Amino acid sequence: MKIIKEISAMQSISEYYRRIGKKIGFVPTMGFLHEGHLSLIIKAKDECDIVFTSIFVNPTQFLPGEDFKDYPRDFLRDYHLCKSSGCDYVFYPDADTMFPENYFTYVNVNVLSDKLEGMFRPGHFKGVTTIVLKLLNITKPHNIYLGQKDAQQAAVLKKMILDLNIDVNLRICDTVREENGLAMSSRNMYLSKDEKDKASVFNFVLNEAKKMILEDKIEDMNVVKQSVKNIIETKTPESSLQYIAITDNNLLEDIKDIKNYNGEVLISLAAYMGKTRLIDNILFKK
Ligand code: PAJ
Repeated sequence: MKIIKEISAMQSISEYYRRIGKKIGFVPTMGFLHEGHLSLIIKAKDECDIVFTSIFVNPTQFLPGEDFKDYPRDFLRDYHLCKSSGCDYVFYPDADTMFPENYFTYVNVNVLSDKLEGMFRPGHFKGVTTIVLKLLNITKPHNIYLGQKDAQQAAVLKKMILDLNIDVNLRICDTVREENGLAMSSRNMYLSKDEKDKASVFNFVLNEAKKMILEDKIEDMNVVKQSVKNIIETKTPESSLQYIAITDNNLLEDIKDIKNYNGEVLISLAAYMGKTRLIDNILFKK
């Protein structure tokens, strides 16, 4: 496995594999890899000839006051994990390479970027879409692999690819979870053992909400949301729910008339466990 730091080198390597007819899979990450990331690399390897992974803690998607400085970084560990998962090239640029002085260009998926996470992290998705578009131009893959863990990110990037006619195939892969149901995340390293145990409540309530809709046939989504809040408050007073939303999976609009809704239902939430902000979601067919 090779480490590439320069944009032009990465582009030439991609061109080479394209010319000889190889299929390229690309997994963008911010590093500090866990099994969720590795599942994407393994899937890419399964479906493509060559796998590129990028490791770049993208400053433009962190808001002032967020954890950009503290975000966990361990390149050596990531290197070994990438290698053992079947990655062929790691694109690992410096911040100045991606955002040199006098960098001015951003891309934004309007409307979608302002919902859910966007309400609490304004500008976050503009940073995500910009970096991913840059990474696509640098790695020029046939397939890009993203995790369902970040449901809105996947929806926003899907819309960017569609709206800008980007010639890449988007593959969205299932969320990998800890044994207790907690969605794996690089940010879980901020949690104490006790907080990690208690954070299983989020996956639990998402499954309860799904049951309320599919099995109990509850029609008022406010009732479902209120029940979720109550369960979290009772089971884990040390956590606090920031939002819970029940939406479609494309435009992320609230589902008002669930009785007559036929499509994918996305229930997403963000919550604090102690000082750590976590997100999770569940996606199912109605
Ligand atoms: P990062 O949080 O490192 O995640 C990289 C990819 O791994 C994303 O597609 C994310 O959805 C996926 N992922 C994270 N946890 C997962 C889990 N438990 N199961 C399955 N997939 C999981 O998301 C980002 O980085 C950045 O925003 C990025 C797209 C790299 C742009 O900077």
